[in-house]
Amino acid sequence: MSRFGRRASALAALIVFLCALGVGVVTAGNRSRDERALRKTRSAPSQTIEQKVSALLGKMTLAEKLNQLTLLSDGQINDSEAAKPVGGVFSLTDPDKINHFQHVAVEQSRLHIPILFAFDTIHGYRTIFPIPLGTASSFDPNVASDDHRIGAMETAAVGIKQIYSPMVDVSHEPRWGRSSEGGGEDPYLGSVMAAARVKAAQGSDYSAPDKVVTSVKHFAAYGQPEGGRDYNTTDMSEARLRNLYLPPFKAAIDAGADTAMCSFNAINGVPGCANSHTENDILKKEWGFDGFVESDYTAVDELLRHGVAADGCDAARAALNAGTDMEMVSTHYRDCGAQLVKSGAVSMSRINDAVRRILRIKFRAGLFDNPYVDPSKANDVQLLPASRDTERKDAARSMVLLKNDNGTLPIDTSKSVAVIGPLGDDQHDMLGPWWGQGRDSDAVSVFDGIKAQDANTTFTEGCKMVDADLYDPANECPSVDTAAVTAAAQGADQVVLALGETRGQSGEAEVRSDLKLPGHEQDIIDAVKQTGKPFTVVLFNGRPLDLTDVAAKSDAILEAWFPGVEAGNSIADVLFGKVDPGGKLPVSFPRSVGQVPIYYNHEPTGRPCDVGSKYNSRYRDILSCQPLYPFGFGLSYTTFKLSNLQLSSHTLSAKGGSITASVDVTNTGSRQGDEVAQLYIHDPVASISQPVRRLRGFERVTLDPGQTTTVSWKLDRSDVGFYDNSGNFVVEPGRIDVFAGDSSADDGQTDSFTVQ
Ligand code: NOJ
Repeated sequence: MSRFGRRASALAALIVFLCALGVGVVTAGNRSRDERALRKTRSAPSQTIEQKVSALLGKMTLAEKLNQLTLLSDGQINDSEAAKPVGGVFSLTDPDKINHFQHVAVEQSRLHIPILFAFDTIHGYRTIFPIPLGTASSFDPNVASDDHRIGAMETAAVGIKQIYSPMVDVSHEPRWGRSSEGGGEDPYLGSVMAAARVKAAQGSDYSAPDKVVTSVKHFAAYGQPEGGRDYNTTDMSEARLRNLYLPPFKAAIDAGADTAMCSFNAINGVPGCANSHTENDILKKEWGFDGFVESDYTAVDELLRHGVAADGCDAARAALNAGTDMEMVSTHYRDCGAQLVKSGAVSMSRINDAVRRILRIKFRAGLFDNPYVDPSKANDVQLLPASRDTERKDAARSMVLLKNDNGTLPIDTSKSVAVIGPLGDDQHDMLGPWWGQGRDSDAVSVFDGIKAQDANTTFTEGCKMVDADLYDPANECPSVDTAAVTAAAQGADQVVLALGETRGQSGEAEVRSDLKLPGHEQDIIDAVKQTGKPFTVVLFNGRPLDLTDVAAKSDAILEAWFPGVEAGNSIADVLFGKVDPGGKLPVSFPRSVGQVPIYYNHEPTGRPCDVGSKYNSRYRDILSCQPLYPFGFGLSYTTFKLSNLQLSSHTLSAKGGSITASVDVTNTGSRQGDEVAQLYIHDPVASISQPVRRLRGFERVTLDPGQTTTVSWKLDRSDVGFYDNSGNFVVEPGRIDVFAGDSSADDGQTDSFTVQ
């Protein structure tokens, strides 16, 4: 080990020691005992692994070290790269090839260092789950756990030990197609879902054969690109960054996420992969993260086009010094590393630190002991019937009933049903924008799912939606066969319209400037409306849509997102009332794209919106200050009442402690159903104006008719505090208002307490 290396590890040991004492560690958010225990384990890393890493590092040449910092795609890897060996390879999924390259790396390289294989298992590997925005709608962390438990098992079975998930970018930008991949607009909900995903994928030890290490991404603030355009710049205060965008990352790290991916976008002029403030200061120093950060795809090279690096070597310098440990696809680290070290632009200790982090994760992943996979067993765990059953249940739990007039739903199976719409007999789009190794043929279409429960069902396409990379109006329901649609509707008792986006209209680089139904899909609604038949619109989409016209005409609307492999079956379960739709919106749905960004957790203004007067924060031409459907909103087939909000105390002591808030939830209807009780707070007077509502707790309950349950949450100082613009977490004395309700817009149950 070099002199620099020793000094770096002495410093790391000191930081670890200080962290263990809690010195300089900013705490926020509800931390479970689990997370604290994990943190403790982190603070005292296994000596054996650290010793092994040090021993190996001490033997490595600079060239070998730089190869460890190199992450290649499936198209770039070959025997010669594997023999160096490179640090990681992503998107290779054939277990025979993975094994082959691993054999080359382990057997032909001088130090026998295994390769870390990675994949984007975002909402499933082969058993495709609902898009993460859908999972977030379940308001049930078990749904996120199921997704990543099964995803990890299927991924690990082919020899891949790292997944580029969870994607935890909070977003207030529905135009941005990657809204589909995250947990919505709220940092608290996003944090709960992120932690659940990490714990499920990694377990307590990700060297286990069915576990993988997670990479939380995209660090940071990628969810707020200007104009909604992917990769675009973002500019925000330190307070906003820390209060809105960072909490799910922190939750993922606290839950054990051992790798992270830096983002394409610039934050306040500094790209995510060259951002020493977010990577070195916050992630590594403040949060004590001892894993590694990989760049996003060519993001190091893109520093040139961002205008913060003069050439590839300069980009490598900027990224390495900022804390990006591994470079994806571009190879400036490897090509320029020696020169950068020689010139002193990058220290040897920094190179050692990056390599140490990567080797540490490889040891923790068990790769040195078990580098190979058994290809003959890779298929044994893919798309198991039990996994499909779990997916079907979870997809149904992820649906949100937005409208249900005149008891349109549930449909009685004795009625005949006409399924109409371009997505009605579609397997391909049901899988959503990250379909992993999912196959279209695995997916159940809406028509097939409904027909399986009600044989008296017909299908009429109405128009075509073609999934294509580039916009062409000819692909997006260019015109509707109104006669066929009308005839089909007239011939049935009930109509189910399958409308929305193709899977390729959301996801990476897919941005829409218009949030209405694509093409002429609305004409289908208009035609069916004319027939007078009761109808339900089932929506497939990867972002909040502008449903103003849809809601004006439809009897019922079920938001299904992209439900995954069991799409049609889970939709039928909900439509026929086998499952109560108990999901809630994790994002606000605007009345028009002109309202964007519109989100529940906005700050107040000096002139709050009032459409009835002038000189206030309104849109002249939108006669409401509210979104069409607010965050946390969703109906059920039954009705609920929240009552009796109680606080265990009206004072939160300066010394700490907590207040328990509880509320009674009663099923006031005549069938069993699900409600999500939600707890919000507001700090009405603070040194920085605080959001009008902040979610601090939620619980999904299933209740029989007439049944009441009491739901309770603890609030402590970490809940009522916030980050200021200097990055300090502050808890200010004063009043905190508390709201319990069935959505962010529900003011029914309120109380307040005083923070000392
Ligand atoms: C680019 C995407 O931004 C990122 O989310 C993904 O993990 C990488 N490509 C690798 O596929």
